[in-house]
Amino acid sequence: MAQPVSRHSIPQHALNDGTSVPAVGFGTYRLNGHEGVEAIARAIDNGYRLIDSAFNYENEGAVGRAVRLAEAPRDQVRVTSKLPGRRHGHDAALRTIEESVYRTGLDHLDVYLIHWPNPGRERYVEAWQALIEAQRQGLVTTIGVSNFLPEHLQRLIDETGVTPAINQIELHPYFPQAEQRAWHAEHGILTEAWSPVGRGGDVINDPVVQQVAEAHGRTPVEVILRWHTQLGVVPLPKAAHADRQVQNLSIFDFELDADEVAAITGLGRADGRINGQDPAVYEEF
Ligand SMILES: NC(=O)c1ccc[n+]([C@@H]2O[C@H](COP(=O)([O-])OP(=O)(O)OC[C@H]3O[C@@H](n4cnc5c(N)ncnc54)[C@H](OP(=O)(O)O)[C@@H]3O)[C@@H](O)[C@H]2O)c1
Repeated sequence: MAQPVSRHSIPQHALNDGTSVPAVGFGTYRLNGHEGVEAIARAIDNGYRLIDSAFNYENEGAVGRAVRLAEAPRDQVRVTSKLPGRRHGHDAALRTIEESVYRTGLDHLDVYLIHWPNPGRERYVEAWQALIEAQRQGLVTTIGVSNFLPEHLQRLIDETGVTPAINQIELHPYFPQAEQRAWHAEHGILTEAWSPVGRGGDVINDPVVQQVAEAHGRTPVEVILRWHTQLGVVPLPKAAHADRQVQNLSIFDFELDADEVAAITGLGRADGRINGQDPAVYEEF
């Protein structure tokens, strides 16, 4: 049976608000209900200390229950949720954040993100002001965004003076987001990667990834997750099964060389998004 990974062996990233997050987190999309609770609690017991969720995943309750069931002390686990597109109005956003906290059964959330900018509605600055207010009230500790393009981030900074600590974006070898990552680095924003292993699809079988994996005697998923961390990105792989959960954390005892990193980044292509969800036009419900 796979052995848990010590949280001490997982490096930390400092955020612009003085807090930190571990170099790998755990995705929970489609982990719901009793089975979801078991899988998420197992992930925490296996060493994960950053858990990703969202109001729209309808599993904030399962995440909170798992956090309470797991052995780790509450203050060592950073729980994330996200504001849905239909709640960007200032008051609606604050009520939704309160509801997210109540659903988890915890007394605060550690990270809260605006799920998508929904630029067609033009209310993401208002939503950001609500997150700033929620942070002041102690409902949430770290605030950030997800799927924001540089133009959206710039507007938040210009209109509120508060730079998001995190931007969580689609990022995997077929969509490596070089320009967006560079923009984040320049502005002190941590990049988190969603669908970091391409939802377990074709990228795992890509010959370039396979070749690097063989050279290191590791699995393709380990190599992809290691590539993320060497880019300074925090991947949030989702895995229901304990052996995969442990495998996905066991990436800090080998290193890719610069050519290998470049070869994997070179797999990127303009149409590499998994479902073509372009934040410039996509509208999250
Ligand atoms: N902000 C956003 O808009 C947004 C959008 C999408 C996702 N997310 C977040 O990002 C998280 C991760 O993205 P994702 O769930 O779309 O995809 P992902 O993490 O790239 O891939 C998950 C899939 O890969 C499989 N897998 C995981 N580890 C594996 C391993 N070691 N070997 C082989 N297969 C493995 C999983 O299988 P099993 O589970 O069956 O083990 C699952 O089918 C989500 O769960 C969610 O928290 C955020």
